[in-house]
Amino acid sequence: MKATIDKLFRTGDASNEELKALMDLCDNEGLKEAAVARRKEHYGTAVYIRGLIEFSNHCRNNCFYCGIMAAQKDLRRYRLGQSEILGCCNEGYKLGLRTFVLQSGEDNEYSDEALCNIIYSIKSSHPDCAVALSIGEKSRASYQAYFNAGAERYLLRHETASPGHYARLHPASMSLENRKRCLRDLKDIGYQVGSGFMVGSPFQTLDDLVSDLRFLQELQPDMIGIGPFIPAQGTPFAHMQAGSLARTLNLISMLRLMFPYSLIPSTTSLASISPQGRLLGLEAGANVLMPNLSPASVRTLYSLYDHKDALSASGLEILKKEVSGIGYEVVACRGDVKSQKDEN
Ligand code: 5AD
Repeated sequence: MKATIDKLFRTGDASNEELKALMDLCDNEGLKEAAVARRKEHYGTAVYIRGLIEFSNHCRNNCFYCGIMAAQKDLRRYRLGQSEILGCCNEGYKLGLRTFVLQSGEDNEYSDEALCNIIYSIKSSHPDCAVALSIGEKSRASYQAYFNAGAERYLLRHETASPGHYARLHPASMSLENRKRCLRDLKDIGYQVGSGFMVGSPFQTLDDLVSDLRFLQELQPDMIGIGPFIPAQGTPFAHMQAGSLARTLNLISMLRLMFPYSLIPSTTSLASISPQGRLLGLEAGANVLMPNLSPASVRTLYSLYDHKDALSASGLEILKKEVSGIGYEVVACRGDVKSQKDEN
């Protein structure tokens, strides 16, 4: 396997069969080492932080895996208004956060105008901060309006790049085609785009994961977020098996080698299946953490899956120490994606 790791390190690519073998690797020391070396070249020991504000758990969609799907009956729904959202950002600012990610289900109650006002008010109060949106599939015109209001980043995971698998995770009203259209529009408009997928979602094969990697090679996103699937009560997949920690870590290392400059978060779902998940993610090649700035009163309601870990702002202080304990440093800056251009 060493030869394959070397090849991925040298060239940033490998054959489909080689990629599949790496996903299944049991002893991942060599793979991790290569990924950590590559990250160090471009990002040193810096770990970037983004403050996540989950501002609404209403959703019009019925993704079979997701705990806040519309059909979910046992869930109190909430929405935060503009002043509450701004309050979260102000709190985050004091803690050193310079990127705010506004995430919600696909909630049509917020008009484009309302969202633009929210974005504009954050940018006016904190001109040195970046605003990222993670609010799902919208029209190109809406994406353009948010961009004009000051949002510069957008996170939209493709979830799975294989059409057959996509159809098993989503109702017929949703399509991979539209997801891809959204991602193309976002790039075209000029957003820094994040995408990604779940590891071990029901019915996923190694070939599906290869398709995910190939799709990302086409898209060339600035950020790639992956995490294990975790069953959520009240969903059709409530009794399915969770994704594996080991395979997720292998894939993080592979992503680092295939997309050396990308921002790769060590995600909440990783932390939710393993108490050391966030640190393990960094040690596998991730370089971003996303503490939660949502008000404590609503945090448990944004229940994408069971036993979701909450990295609170106070938890961040503890995590910072743990992060420095393993040789990295949490930095307070916007943490824009680097590119080869920046280094030449
Ligand atoms: N397990 C893990 N991740 C999930 N997501 C949604 N539901 C689950 C689940 N049950 C992820 C999706 C989505 C992101 C916000 O959360 O990939 O894009």
